[in-house]
Amino acid sequence: MKRVRIAAWISIAVLVLAAGAAYLLRPNVGALPGRLPLAAGIGGPFELTTQEGRRLSSAELAGTPFALFFGFTHCPDVCPTTMLELSNTIKALGPDADRMRFFFVSVDPERDTPAQLKLYLSNFDPRITGLVGTPEEIAAVAKAYRAIYEKVPTKDGFTYNHTALVYLMGRDGRLAGTINYQESADTQLKKLRRLIGA
Ligand code: NI
Repeated sequence: MKRVRIAAWISIAVLVLAAGAAYLLRPNVGALPGRLPLAAGIGGPFELTTQEGRRLSSAELAGTPFALFFGFTHCPDVCPTTMLELSNTIKALGPDADRMRFFFVSVDPERDTPAQLKLYLSNFDPRITGLVGTPEEIAAVAKAYRAIYEKVPTKDGFTYNHTALVYLMGRDGRLAGTINYQESADTQLKKLRRLIGA
């Protein structure tokens, strides 16, 4: 049942992005040159706390491409899979990976303290920065990225369903693309290379 719900959320996210792509590819009727109305609407300023306890503002990211993923450290499958694959892609990028940033934003402020996030991320590439926030801060950043997350009770606690996309944000702060769940390693690498212009 849980997998079905996760699959449903993923499907919704894919549909939203497909609709966005269709919108972007429509005949140009009055859009400003170079402006992508829907893509321009995804993303936005945020201020969150890193796994080191430091406040990080998106203003620091001006001019730097970045990848951003929403998840939680107790996630049994989607998050560890995505972080492992992203870590492999970062290694494959080599020094070029330093031309962009990588973020894991927790949607579980109750359990994901900076220390918990630090412990969790020690399993993955150290270039992935963990971000936590208050429930209000998380809600705001998720809304800005049109990401969905939903707390779901389980017999021994709770879990979250969440959007499984990695958002790829360009130097201009706009959505440049996404990595979809379990996309091939080759495709993931090509997408990151394109993002950083390598
Ligand atoms: Ni997850």
